[in-house]
Amino acid sequence: MDHVADNTRGGTLALFGTWLASPWHRTPDDEMVLPLCINVVLSVVGFGVVLRAIPALSSMFIEAGLFGRDLCKADRTKKVPESMGMVSGTVFLVMMFLFLGVPFGQHFITSSKPFPHAAFSEYLTSLLSICCMLFLGFADDVLNLKWRYKLVLPTLASLPLLMVYYINKGSTTVVVPRLLRAWMGGTLNIGVLYYIYMSMLAVFCTNAINIYAGINGLESGQAVVVGASVAVFNVIELGGFQAKSHFFSLCVIIPFTITSLGLFIHNRYPAKAFVGDTFTYFAGMTFAVVAIIGHFSKTVLLFFIPQIFNFLYSVPQLFHFVPCPRHRLPQYNKKLDKLEPSVVEFRDTSVRWQMMVALRLLNHLKLVHLEEGVGEDGKLCRVNNLTLINLVLVLIGPQHEGSLTTKLLVLQGLSSGLALFIRYPLADLFF
Ligand code: UD1
Ligand code: MG
Repeated sequence: MDHVADNTRGGTLALFGTWLASPWHRTPDDEMVLPLCINVVLSVVGFGVVLRAIPALSSMFIEAGLFGRDLCKADRTKKVPESMGMVSGTVFLVMMFLFLGVPFGQHFITSSKPFPHAAFSEYLTSLLSICCMLFLGFADDVLNLKWRYKLVLPTLASLPLLMVYYINKGSTTVVVPRLLRAWMGGTLNIGVLYYIYMSMLAVFCTNAINIYAGINGLESGQAVVVGASVAVFNVIELGGFQAKSHFFSLCVIIPFTITSLGLFIHNRYPAKAFVGDTFTYFAGMTFAVVAIIGHFSKTVLLFFIPQIFNFLYSVPQLFHFVPCPRHRLPQYNKKLDKLEPSVVEFRDTSVRWQMMVALRLLNHLKLVHLEEGVGEDGKLCRVNNLTLINLVLVLIGPQHEGSLTTKLLVLQGLSSGLALFIRYPLADLFF
């Protein structure tokens, strides 16, 4: 499905188990086990640092003007430190720099093979791209950039990695589905389109996480679930043809997931910290980067099913076919202490008739809640803001903020299960 060689798999989990069980009887491939163990230990240390650093640095962020108001609470006067993704992101990068010497330094001691310059440069530029995005996300938090810049920035941040991918002669070949093989052959080299796809992946991942946000713990929580899912996928693939690529991806995704868990603990309901666009961009870029270095840039999208749905559902508002307010997060109902879908109002004449027909159809299918003929003069329409969060509230009724986040994270986890099902049993039918 992904890369040509990406298709081949072995009894990976069993192999991984054998490694862990017999550390003193290593075969050449076992060179991965010790680095992975050190990686996990460093990540756990990073988790502890994030957990302690966030409360310690909160007042400093607030004093610097980096704070937001929790819009889904009765008391909106409280200042919640914003951009806390900077803390988890910095700790992640420090852990990655400390870890750098492990797989590559170990190479000098235990291996007689030539030094893996290609992998080393790919690894370094991955960190450069992630670091760039952390910086650009922070710039967005401080400067409130316009949407057009939000689209350009991830493309720019992905350039160093794409350049190294090109220099290292990274594959641009995709597997052709069985049905089309008679006409197109088994594989197809799509050349420059592959590079365009990879840079668009960075744009998609960063923005898709950023717009699936607004309730406590969702931004960081989805990143933890997707990160853990990618890690599981990498571990499964460790026994395959592309073991080295998945190993490097794993070395990035483990510290990312564990440090983000530290952030989630402060960001979950009731939030003591907001992650900021610093985190959403940094997280999105990390997923794009691991997918590129791990050679699973198409499979990774399977772990973004809720985000893809949320993006498609948001299209009418993102492209202003329907008005899009600054915030689309749910509305707090003080009496119930629950969240309800937030709505946007517009004159029926201000929206194209095709859009109105689409909204009526979606209303019929219970996929939006549309009210027509409201307002004093009866000429207003009211529809829920088109986000997955609001849709869930339309479908299951008002929810407490904490339990809504939990439900959405469970949905994310179930989607990952579906993703693995599509990637393995189902993909084998088609590829
Ligand atoms: C994106 C969404 C916007 C959503 C916002 C929430 C689109 C096009 N944009 O905008 O609809 O309202 O994210 O993050 O879909 N906040 C809370 N509770 C939370 C998280 C955030 O109240 O749990 C509020 C805080 O006031 C915080 C602000 O959202 O300061 C952060 O918003 P920001 O990340 O700047 O919004 P965008 O990413 O531009
Ligand atoms: Mg945001």
